[in-house]
Amino acid sequence: MAVRMRPLGAKETIIVFILIFQSFDYCRTCHCDLQYFCNCSSNHLQHVPKVPANALGLDLSFNQIESIDMNDLSPYSELKTLNFHKNKLKFIHKEAFKSQHKLEVLDLSFNNLKNLSSSWFHQLKSLQQLNLVGNPYTTLGPAPIFQPLLNLRTLRFGSPSLREVYKNGLDSLAYLDEMTFVGSNLRSYENGSLKAARPIGLVSLSLQSLFQNDPELVSKVLQDVSHPETLLTIKNAELRTNTSTEAFKATREEKCSWPASLRFLNLSSTKIRKMTPCLPSSLTALDLSENDLTVFNQRFPQLITLTLTGNRFMTLPHGELLPRLQTLLIQRNALRMFNRSDLKRFKTLQYLEAGDNNFVCSCEFVSFFKQDVDLFITLRDGRRNYVCNTPFILRVLGLIVVTCHKLHVIWYLQMTKAWIQAKRKPAVGRLAEELRYDAFVSYSQHDAEWVEEILVPELESAQPPFALCLHKRDFQPGRWIVDNIIDSIEKSHRTLFVLSEHFVTSEWCRYELDFSHFRIVDEHNDSAVLVLLEPIKKETIPKRFCKLRKIMNSRTYLEWPEEEEKRSEFWSNLRAVLQRDEC
Ligand SMILES: *[C@@H]1O[C@H](CO)[C@@H](O)[C@H](O)[C@H]1NC(C)=O
Ligand SMILES: *[C@@H]1O[C@H](CO)[C@@H](O)[C@H](O)[C@H]1NC(C)=O
Ligand SMILES: *[C@@H]1O[C@H](CO)[C@@H](O)[C@H](O)[C@H]1NC(C)=O
Ligand SMILES: *[C@@H]1O[C@H](CO)[C@@H](O)[C@H](O)[C@H]1NC(C)=O
Ligand SMILES: *[C@@H]1O[C@H](CO)[C@@H](O)[C@H](O)[C@H]1NC(C)=O
Ligand SMILES: *[C@@H]1O[C@H](CO)[C@@H](O)[C@H](O)[C@H]1NC(C)=O
Ligand SMILES: *[C@@H]1O[C@H](CO)[C@@H](O)[C@H](O)[C@H]1NC(C)=O
Repeated sequence: MAVRMRPLGAKETIIVFILIFQSFDYCRTCHCDLQYFCNCSSNHLQHVPKVPANALGLDLSFNQIESIDMNDLSPYSELKTLNFHKNKLKFIHKEAFKSQHKLEVLDLSFNNLKNLSSSWFHQLKSLQQLNLVGNPYTTLGPAPIFQPLLNLRTLRFGSPSLREVYKNGLDSLAYLDEMTFVGSNLRSYENGSLKAARPIGLVSLSLQSLFQNDPELVSKVLQDVSHPETLLTIKNAELRTNTSTEAFKATREEKCSWPASLRFLNLSSTKIRKMTPCLPSSLTALDLSENDLTVFNQRFPQLITLTLTGNRFMTLPHGELLPRLQTLLIQRNALRMFNRSDLKRFKTLQYLEAGDNNFVCSCEFVSFFKQDVDLFITLRDGRRNYVCNTPFILRVLGLIVVTCHKLHVIWYLQMTKAWIQAKRKPAVGRLAEELRYDAFVSYSQHDAEWVEEILVPELESAQPPFALCLHKRDFQPGRWIVDNIIDSIEKSHRTLFVLSEHFVTSEWCRYELDFSHFRIVDEHNDSAVLVLLEPIKKETIPKRFCKLRKIMNSRTYLEWPEEEEKRSEFWSNLRAVLQRDEC
């Protein structure tokens, strides 16, 4: 529109302002940051908005844009990333991306593109990542469509609408590192179609029910993408049925369709219930996490890494099935115990993570854990401090992570770390002046009230007063700082355990493990003092807490009397026990 050169009236001024604001559309709808990245996501946009011409990134995801016309993007020749994820694109002009020579990332996923055109890509010489997933096109090929994309590294392609895949569709993609292919309703697949010029590092297949509906077709796809160098991930598949899953079939006349050359296979979250001897024995890494497996019965002579996290295993796999296994992850299963001989069957195991299982703290288990855990802990670099964050795997040659029911791996790692450090400290005799405290009081949150309101005031106001070091235990995983415990125990003359019936019967296991590396909870150690807040019948203590039973048999412990008049005797006994010998 033309603006005449004369003073503007109020109305006209407003109109001009509106026009100015409209042309600076992005001021309202897009947020452009100092790195020239303009974020116009989720703004109900129906057209490509105007943004500064020097924009490097443009996020237009979650809008209502239906078309990209010839000149919509022409001012933005600096763009490196362009995102149209979840719009309503049904038309893209064949020259729409003509000025995007520098574009590296293009996301056109989840739109309404029925036909793909290779002419879109003619100028995209720098493009490295292209996402076309979730559009209703029905065919790939036979004409090569990605030919101009000489630098493409990552391609995501396909949707439930895809019906036919022809050879040559992927021709010319010589440098693909990563490919995602969605083809859950594929009807026809020409042999060789997904075979890239060079093996692809990472292939993710989402074929869903095709595993049941057309196993032969799946088999053809698998043959094409499998290569010893390729990590193959099967996504969104349901491999749960026992008869129709060709890929897992191993009955007479029928052959397994898993290509024998596969080395890296990821079958996480595919609802597998049962293993059949069909998985290729060439595998060196297998991820079977988040499935429904209970029995591990296949031999994998080459396997080095096995992930079984999130299944229902009650025992460790038999070590002889896995003669080269180095890493086993089996957290969140239903393991109840394992022992030294189970572990010894793994000839080469270096790293085992088994947290979050249902370990029963039987006497055997606790003692195995106490005696053997140090056999399995070695530090690769003795001088470097072992820290409990990633990548600790790299630093630790062998480490057994065992936790009791509900315990947290992190907690155990902290424990281990502190314990290793404590072990490595030079053995210095405990000098009297180092014993700053008369007693370190260990108690659970359950009994905090009694400790804090009765015990502590009484002992700290005694003549002479006792110096107490308190440890508030809350049994929340990961919260407890083990280093402090070690430190406190080292600085304390005695360790006072405050126990109640509820606590003893339900939590002692944890208690015993917590202190298992200090010999305080051994039967013959008199540096520990037990106070029972209520009478506890030995018979009520679960058999598996044998250590506690033994301690209570072999050592005197003090019972907090219900009767007021017996309490002064309790206190004087306690004071006597805590008193340091004067010499
Ligand atoms: C753009 O903004 C949306 C919120 O409006 C946010 O979710 C999205 O992550 C942002 N995109 C980028 C690339 O920062
Ligand atoms: C898509 O391709 C089909 C045939 O391949 C053609 O009939 C149709 O007109 C095309 N649609 C558009 C929007 O170009
Ligand atoms: C695909 O074709 C190749 C030769 O072009 C052949 O070696 C291979 O066995 C075929 N695969 C299937 C599954 O038919
Ligand atoms: C799976 O196998 C069991 C017996 O092993 C059989 O009862 C069941 O019907 C089978 N399921 C299907 C879907 O065929
Ligand atoms: C396997 O795939 C799942 C998700 O599909 C992923 O979380 C996991 O990290 C993958 N495992 C490996 C070993 O790459
Ligand atoms: C070790 O535990 C396994 C079960 O995990 C059991 O079958 C085996 O008898 C135990 N061996 C020893 C020596 O306790
Ligand atoms: C008792 O436990 C303490 C603390 O761990 C330890 O230093 C001491 O040697 C133990 N005494 C005996 C007799 O085991």
